[in-house]
Amino acid sequence: MKLAISGKGGVGKTTLAALLAQVYADAGRQVLAVDADPSPCLAGALGFPDELRALLHPIAEMDELIEERTGAKPGTVGGFFTLNPRVDDIPERFSVVHEGVRLLEMGSVDTGGSGCICPESAMLKTLFTHLLFRKDDVLILDMYAGVEHLGRATVDFVDAMLVVVEPTRRSLGTAAQIKSLATDIGLTRLWLVGNKVRNAEEEAFLKAETTGLPLLGVLPADLAVQEADRLGIPVYNHIPSLRKAAEGIAKALEEEI
Ligand SMILES: Nc1ncnc2c1ncn2[C@@H]1O[C@H](COP(=O)(O)OP(=O)(O)OP(=O)(O)O)[C@@H](O)[C@H]1O
Ligand SMILES: [Mg+2]
Repeated sequence: MKLAISGKGGVGKTTLAALLAQVYADAGRQVLAVDADPSPCLAGALGFPDELRALLHPIAEMDELIEERTGAKPGTVGGFFTLNPRVDDIPERFSVVHEGVRLLEMGSVDTGGSGCICPESAMLKTLFTHLLFRKDDVLILDMYAGVEHLGRATVDFVDAMLVVVEPTRRSLGTAAQIKSLATDIGLTRLWLVGNKVRNAEEEAFLKAETTGLPLLGVLPADLAVQEADRLGIPVYNHIPSLRKAAEGIAKALEEEI
């Protein structure tokens, strides 16, 4: 099963990605979680200890590896480099495992929205495609924002894109934009997941204003989420209500796909 998690900045994508990864791992599934944020924080959310985190480096920042594989130094514009570098060894070689979750930090490349092709973007694009073609039991992609890593060739391999929303019109507006971008590339298996929901009224708001996307479930607002971050404990271990809600979301998803 391949899940992509997107949504407006700060809505709780990483929190949901970490919760779901641990739910599946604890159910005995083989989980590969991929952090595609330019400033990765999934390792923290999953409670990876410092000695393992020290081994993680975003692939986007591995200049020597990118040069070795593409034939050109990152940052070079023009010139020749391969558009489909070898990446098949990367997921195992550069990931680390904690509590049953394998984590790969991919990072991202700012192409300024121009879609420019540089060695590092060729590397990430090829790696992303490879991840979607691989037959991992559970792949969870913490997508930073939008659908920029996906394309027509790869969407068929995404079983579900979860768009995280807060109970605000603003975050629903972003969800509508993501839906439209996803539809453009042929991705239609989209669900909303509400987060930071404080009461029944807010849940009802999300159900009523779903921008045409079905609501898979909601995670309650809980001040202990920040406390967990401060203490360096995963939300999954620290807040039973959020763990339970995530288990419910995983179950709802299994029924949908
Ligand atoms: N259910 C919740 N209740 C209270 N606070 C929450 C909840 N979920 C997330 N938060 C808080 O919201 C902030 C953003 O969460 P998170 O990092 O998961 O979002 P994100 O969408 O991954 O952000 P970014 O776009 O920066 O990657 C964090 O400070 C986190 O503590
Ligand atoms: Mg995040």
